[in-house]
Amino acid sequence: MAPLNVLMVCAEYAPLAKVGGLGDVTAALSAALAARGHQVRVVMPLYGQLDREALDIRPLKKLPGLALRAGGRMRDVRYHVRGRAAGRLQVFCVECADLFDRPGIYNGPDGEPFPDAVERMALHGRAALLLPRLLDWPADIVHVHDAQTVPAALYRRLWYAGRGLPGPGATVLTIHNLAHQEIHPAAAAEALGLPAGQAVYPGLLEFHGRINLMKAGILAADRLNTVSPGYARETVSGPEAGCGLHEVLAGRREAYTGILNGADYRTWDPGRDPLLPAVYDSGDLGGKVRCRDALLAELGLEAETDRHGRLRRPLCGFVGRLVTQKGVDLMLPILARLAGDGFRFAILGTGEKRLEDAVRRLAADQRGRIAFCDRYDEALAHRIYAGCDVFLMPSLFEPCGLSQMYALRYGSPPVVRRTGGLADTVVGHPDPDATGFVFGEPRSEDLLACLRAVEKTWADRDAWVRLQERGMALRFDWNASATAYEDLYAAALAGREGGRP
Ligand code: ADP
Ligand code: GLC
Repeated sequence: MAPLNVLMVCAEYAPLAKVGGLGDVTAALSAALAARGHQVRVVMPLYGQLDREALDIRPLKKLPGLALRAGGRMRDVRYHVRGRAAGRLQVFCVECADLFDRPGIYNGPDGEPFPDAVERMALHGRAALLLPRLLDWPADIVHVHDAQTVPAALYRRLWYAGRGLPGPGATVLTIHNLAHQEIHPAAAAEALGLPAGQAVYPGLLEFHGRINLMKAGILAADRLNTVSPGYARETVSGPEAGCGLHEVLAGRREAYTGILNGADYRTWDPGRDPLLPAVYDSGDLGGKVRCRDALLAELGLEAETDRHGRLRRPLCGFVGRLVTQKGVDLMLPILARLAGDGFRFAILGTGEKRLEDAVRRLAADQRGRIAFCDRYDEALAHRIYAGCDVFLMPSLFEPCGLSQMYALRYGSPPVVRRTGGLADTVVGHPDPDATGFVFGEPRSEDLLACLRAVEKTWADRDAWVRLQERGMALRFDWNASATAYEDLYAAALAGREGGRP
């Protein structure tokens, strides 16, 4: 297709700002689109924790400072750029002392969402939509990611209809997680700078007496997608998977699709990962054993090996946000028992306090068997993907999931629940094409039964290596996903030409 100008509006962008997979995806998708010839301009907030010097982020001198309204007040804004403002992929950061110059992406140091979250989203959206005009750069596509960047799509629809924005600016919303909808009191419409009428039926924002940005985005965007075909089907199937928006989504069925994320194998490749104590690849897994031994030693885990140096039971890894979504509650009741049987566990994550506390208690009780690292640590995450034998991801729901893709590439068969993107990416034992282990019902007993199947397969060394090798050979290719986004962009543009406001 002819090259497009894509304005990418996002709150996370790896490695600058990342809480979970969203940051990996906005960065890898932008790079894949640029590699395919498109011009991509990313706009994210200049968060206080960003080390401008180390990241080569500087003020964009050619643009003046300006004052933009958010939350009923004018705020001083400056645009910054990362590296040289040249090339097909350029990253812009919006400086605003009032709203962004503090550490944190969504939450403050107390773990609670920022009280001025709506103002932050409003300012980010305004600053993003203004950029094409300031740069005299016609945007073909305005691509927003999750509820927090929906304001940009709303402003495009409500303020810039037919004027002000150079280029057609067809809007695309990617839903990375339907559970985070940004629901706020109706009065917050004003902080967004939108008429109060939008907060009452049939306004775009109205949601049971409050406002809901995800809902508004679903209604307003020219095209929308989520990050796996499986999750796309689930979210229109009923209120639970659809988080109360299944009918809204079903109403836009024609415009809604699922596009599987890719994995960025430039960062996630055990054959040349600089963060590992030893590299390895399929055909020679010797380095993986060294990674495992180093991980056991690092985390103080004691393990029994047979005379071939093989563990009696596998070392299980978990890397992820410790939140209800990730199925941590399914793991908690059975880990001690499995540890007693010889399994070992390396757990890295932060999140809900109740889950952090429960895992911390378990690790204290099971010292030497269960290790818990309660921090965000990119390098340790790599060492766990490489050093574990199996990777646990028993999520209750999972829009796509990247961790299981990384685990597959690192030769650590994932244990997953049959849901969303996990079901789309892992083939369960005993299928001849199996790449991991899959269970159905969200019950600890079912996870336990699955780990008993792991135990059995583990005992058969050759079968285990075949399982690893099949997973390592898979590629979830960003180039393929980027072509699917091109189709979505083309449909969004065609819809706009067809007269959508
Ligand atoms: P989600 O986006 O729901 O968190 P994904 O599987 O898509 O789930 O992506 C999670 C990403 O965040 C992966 O890159 C994973 O390695 C990373 N991650 C999560 N928690 C941590 C942590 N505590 N330390 C390092 N990386 C983490
Ligand atoms: C969300 C989802 C996760 C997905 C990621 C990137 O955080 O929870 O499943 O992989 O976004 O799209």
